Amino acid sequence: MSLKPNRSSRLAPRLRRTLAFRLTAAYSIAGLLLLLLGTVSLYIVLRAELERSTELFLADKLHVLRTMLRERPNDEDGLREEIELESAARRYQQFYIRLLDERGAPILTTPGMAQRLDFAELANRTRSHPGRSISMVGRNGQAFRVASASAEVGSPPTGSDTIQIAIDISQEEELLARYRFWFWAILLITAVLFPLAGYRIARHGIRPVEQIAATARRITSTNLRERIQAEGYPLELASLAGTFNEMLDRLEESFERISRFSADIAHDLRTPVNNIRGEAEVALARARTVEEYREVLESSLEEAVRLSDLIGDLLFLARAESPLTELHLEKVNVGELLTTVRDYYEATAADAGVSLTAVEPAGAASASLDRSLMLRAVSNLVSNAIAHTPKGGSVTLAVSAAGPEIRIEIRDTGRGIPAEALPRVFDRFFRVDPSRSQISGGTGLGLAIVQSIMALHDGSAEIGSQLGCGTIVTLRIHTAAKR
Ligand SMILES: Nc1ncnc2c1ncn2[C@@H]1O[C@H](COP(=O)(O)OP(=O)(O)OP(=O)(O)O)[C@@H](O)[C@H]1O
Ligand SMILES: [Mg+2]
Repeated sequence: MSLKPNRSSRLAPRLRRTLAFRLTAAYSIAGLLLLLLGTVSLYIVLRAELERSTELFLADKLHVLRTMLRERPNDEDGLREEIELESAARRYQQFYIRLLDERGAPILTTPGMAQRLDFAELANRTRSHPGRSISMVGRNGQAFRVASASAEVGSPPTGSDTIQIAIDISQEEELLARYRFWFWAILLITAVLFPLAGYRIARHGIRPVEQIAATARRITSTNLRERIQAEGYPLELASLAGTFNEMLDRLEESFERISRFSADIAHDLRTPVNNIRGEAEVALARARTVEEYREVLESSLEEAVRLSDLIGDLLFLARAESPLTELHLEKVNVGELLTTVRDYYEATAADAGVSLTAVEPAGAASASLDRSLMLRAVSNLVSNAIAHTPKGGSVTLAVSAAGPEIRIEIRDTGRGIPAEALPRVFDRFFRVDPSRSQISGGTGLGLAIVQSIMALHDGSAEIGSQLGCGTIVTLRIHTAAKR
């Protein structure tokens, strides 16, 4: 029962947090403020202009009458024309004039003026504001603008009259009132229309964002191929969609690599296990001599060693990736390390008919390294070099120090690696020729391990090769690297 109020109270803050709501609110407030500013300033200008034209009219009339009184004081017809007839001819903005003599007795008055204006009030109010026009309300509630001025009679002056003038400005007042009415009406209508239009614009603008979100929601590890079609998107969102698509490219590639890796692991684990199983089944099919059993056991042991080496390599790679992996660092003389590896592989090289040499470094090149890991990396490289160098070839180990960098080079005069395979040799389970390597026992993890070891040392491993000429692997380590 308490669900309803709860839901609505939770909905309001949610709505307030939406982009569409914020954009709509911003559009509406900005739109209304602009409209308000525009209409209010137009109203002020219009009112000022109306007042100015009334003012000019009054000033003009006064000027005409004063000139007439000064220059043609006896032209009664002219004055009558100005005061009594001209106003009656007008439909709008009717004006009324009253001419008083020195004692205040009226000489001429526009017909109808007495019905519209209270003369006593007119005299009173204009007296307190001499020479200026002021607003006044007539007998019937109409708005007037009134002014009064003294005028010299004759030239040189023989006396002074008073001109009282009033102009009906109720039409202007009505115009302004209509303006105000429409101003509020339009404001009210736009207060409803702006949010509606703003909301539509905002929804339209953020639709691509929703489409991006919908695509992102649809993507799982099984449909990483899906991409956002960003045609027609605004530039900013097209770039967002592009970034998102690039991320998907990378994810797809990583997923592919991982699934290929798992398939490779399964395959490489299955082969020795199948061998052990097949040999055991054949051996058990009938009675065997002790010699035969020994042979089977020996062969099984070989496969088991292969299997445990493979598992060991995989475990090593998995651990090397963990950020918690610790190195057992010690000062290692790299020249001596190479000599150790050379000594270890001497017999293998001799069997393969390959000469193996370690070039003595000019100075002592030493760095703080994990000795056993570095031994493993260099051993992997030397074993590769010997395995891929035909009889009569040579493998050379060398170290050089250039500034804070130590460079280890393992160079052979072997078969080399085809250029198209070169970028992939550091990948796990990659073998240039899988069938041949399988016989020689390679699993394709050797170079991946070398790369992991170098990464652990903040160093790098690079390979260069020319088919038929040989291969050089260069390991670089910074002696100053923080480890
Ligand atoms: N010195 C080299 N000369 C020619 N080819 C090489 C050389 N070193 C590596 N390769 C090629 O690169 C592939 C990958 O080498 P990597 O050491 O990773 O695997 P592997 O030697 O096949 O197996 P593992 O080292 O795990 O026993 C090899 O299969 C081989 O084809
Ligand atoms: Mg190898």
